[in-house]
Amino acid sequence: MSDDFANDVAEGLSATPKTLPSKYFYDAAGDDLFIQIMDLPEYYLTRAEMEIFREQTDSLIKALGQRPEKPFELVELGAGDGQKTFHLLKKLLSDGYDFTYVPVDISANVLEHLKNFLKKELPDLKIRIEQGDYFKRLKGLQETAQPRVILYLGSNLGNLTDEKSKAFMEKLSRRLTPGDRLVLGVDKKKSADIVLPAYNDSKGVTAAFNLNLLTRINRDLGGEFKLEQFRHAPEYDEENGIAISYLESLVDQDIIIGALDRTFNFTKGEKIKVEISRKYDLPIIRKIIADTPFEIETVFKDSQDLYLDIVLLRD
Ligand SMILES: C[S@@+](CC[C@H](N)C(=O)[O-])C[C@H]1O[C@@H](n2cnc3c(N)ncnc32)[C@H](O)[C@@H]1O
Repeated sequence: MSDDFANDVAEGLSATPKTLPSKYFYDAAGDDLFIQIMDLPEYYLTRAEMEIFREQTDSLIKALGQRPEKPFELVELGAGDGQKTFHLLKKLLSDGYDFTYVPVDISANVLEHLKNFLKKELPDLKIRIEQGDYFKRLKGLQETAQPRVILYLGSNLGNLTDEKSKAFMEKLSRRLTPGDRLVLGVDKKKSADIVLPAYNDSKGVTAAFNLNLLTRINRDLGGEFKLEQFRHAPEYDEENGIAISYLESLVDQDIIIGALDRTFNFTKGEKIKVEISRKYDLPIIRKIIADTPFEIETVFKDSQDLYLDIVLLRD
């Protein structure tokens, strides 16, 4: 991980414009901050998806197309704290389904918490945790004879450009068997007055979450970022439905990163792109899956029409 991190930071900060991959937000401090973000009044995404998982659990289970007596794997990409999935797991167990839950996450810390939480709350659950980057772990998906349901929630897909989403969905579909299903949770395209506050809350938790990436570079790679000389600066392109989080340099400055043996120059106002959060509607999703064997089977919405959980069948 440290080598990957060093290479990705070197590559991202050498690019024009500068970028850093959002997957590195999630160290122990980042995991904690993200849990706080999910509780913020402005961050409607988690509450909307949670409502779908809590209030429509039976319909969701029906849409997964599994039979209780036939074992299957429930694989979750980027599982995080698993709080939404918990409703599904609990109901699947009480309905007598025979399944193994496989949460995949880049954060070892988050997986350890999740495992302990589920052991306590659902002692009968069969669980196999897999730590790593899910883009790299897709290969492992081939090695099972059981049918699979993949959960990809939290609008994680939205951290990719549409081009990369297409490639990812195509790769994922090739690892699946006809009849497998993917539950894709995505944030709906909507106006800036709702979206922007979700990435710029009044308590500054999202700012701290984004700036933590610089703290992580300082700690793990001997970086010399001064956090007070950067600010979190999110933007939202309402027409195209794309939110982008930047870290903006407040002064002209040179930053040494010891482990890379490099100095990076920043001009005042220069921005590092740290995350995109794409917003969707069904036509956008149809375009993304157009060249894949996925087809839209069932669509779940929350009561305020903010969010979608889409069940895709692998033909
Ligand atoms: C936005 S959180 C969503 C968590 C949860 N799925 C939810 O909906 O609440 C993203 C989670 O995905 C994980 N993650 C992000 N990029 C990843 C990657 N490339 N590979 C594996 N896990 C990743 C993070 O560690 C984090 O736990």
